[in-house]
Amino acid sequence: MKIAVVGTGYVGLVTGTCFAETGNEVICVDINEEKVAAMQRGEIPIYEPHLDVLFERNIKQGRLHFTTDLASAVKDAKIIFLALPTPPGEDGSADLSYILKVAEDLGGIIQDYKVIVDKSTVPVGTAEKVTNVLKDKTSVQFDVVSNPEFLREGFAVDDFLKPDRVVVGTSSEKARKVMEELYKPFVRQGNPIIFMDEKSAELTKYAANSFLATKITFMNEIANFCEKVGADVDMVRRGVGTDTRIGPRFLFPGIGYGGSCFPKDVQALAKSGKESGYEFKILESVMETNEKQKLRLIEKVDAHYGGDIAGKTFAMWGLAFKPDTDDIREAPALYMIDALVERGAKVQAYDPEAMDNVKRLVGDKISYAESMYEALDGADALLIATEWSAFRNPDFEKISGKLKEKVIFDGRNLYELDRMRDLGYSYESIGRSMDLVNAH
Ligand code: UDX
Repeated sequence: MKIAVVGTGYVGLVTGTCFAETGNEVICVDINEEKVAAMQRGEIPIYEPHLDVLFERNIKQGRLHFTTDLASAVKDAKIIFLALPTPPGEDGSADLSYILKVAEDLGGIIQDYKVIVDKSTVPVGTAEKVTNVLKDKTSVQFDVVSNPEFLREGFAVDDFLKPDRVVVGTSSEKARKVMEELYKPFVRQGNPIIFMDEKSAELTKYAANSFLATKITFMNEIANFCEKVGADVDMVRRGVGTDTRIGPRFLFPGIGYGGSCFPKDVQALAKSGKESGYEFKILESVMETNEKQKLRLIEKVDAHYGGDIAGKTFAMWGLAFKPDTDDIREAPALYMIDALVERGAKVQAYDPEAMDNVKRLVGDKISYAESMYEALDGADALLIATEWSAFRNPDFEKISGKLKEKVIFDGRNLYELDRMRDLGYSYESIGRSMDLVNAH
């Protein structure tokens, strides 16, 4: 099938590349000329495991193309994916201006039947809005479909090629057939393509992300409470997660959820609730609790040093909002950096992938190390903000040789308490107190 993908951000690029991988001819459109030129030279603009291999292969085999020209891109395409940004506006609601502008442009361009697919996360009612904008501009037949993505950064290729499910919102039988044909190769193992109306599909995405954000936040609160009463959240997590109704995933406590999706989607769902006269109390409280959780480790730092950390130096391992990505949007590390610098402390940071992005954002407010061990040079303590695999089993002798004191604040619960006790560390993590092992 011939497919056009409008927008070559994270979602657009993964979508375009993976559809090319299953034999479709894909053309990706972006208004950024420099970016398009780079992609035409075979340079991939984002870091995502495995995507580079697919990207290169499909360009070589002539199935993946790039252009800045919307009209030529959509001319022969049967399906047009809209993978455009929907940033939160000032009031937290999703800004649809990019999508509606492209819809308007398409209205003036299309000459034959097209299936126009919203891939971006958009509020309920967007498919209808896109339809109306197009209808005002053209008498050519088209259908607007809502097809939300559930890709995790770091696993996007796998998630795309082997989805748990594909959600397609359309009330048109013709569009349904086209979408079924397109997604068949991805659901061979029997995972469902769930067809529904457009609005339900739009809401499914928000409901899924908000549920997961709530699940994490709930566990963060349980973890905070564990600290108060002397329980071990790792045990509670295992005890709870083995109940098949709850499941083991997304129960890991930490320093709050971040990234480009959860914070934005929870906020947008709460906002669209309000607009419809419905108050999502649970989401309001999830957002409030998550903001606090991002500074949970700093509270522990303050408590350890009696509130005075001016002049102290902290090594920080991990800057990305989660491992295997260079994405720092809403990353807890950024909030921690601000809080530490505000209190007069110095930060020596290291991240395997996200350093350039942080440099661009915070510049020389902090210093950047070449390696995880270099970040420790002369530091008073180590703070862990992201659970990169490289941090999971470090050389503790090397760490203690470089730190002024054996002090670790771990926002991701990477190490076993008894090991840290035996190594003589002052070790603070989330929902697990050293008292649990010191008593034994
Ligand atoms: C998420 C959704 O998983 C995906 O379906 C959607 O399409 C986009 O948003 P992503 O933002 O890539 O994907 O990250 P994800 O792996 O889901 O993690 C989100 C946040 O939750 C991260 O900040 C992570 O650190 C945090 N998290 C996750 C926890 O704190 N604990 C957990 O147990 C799991």
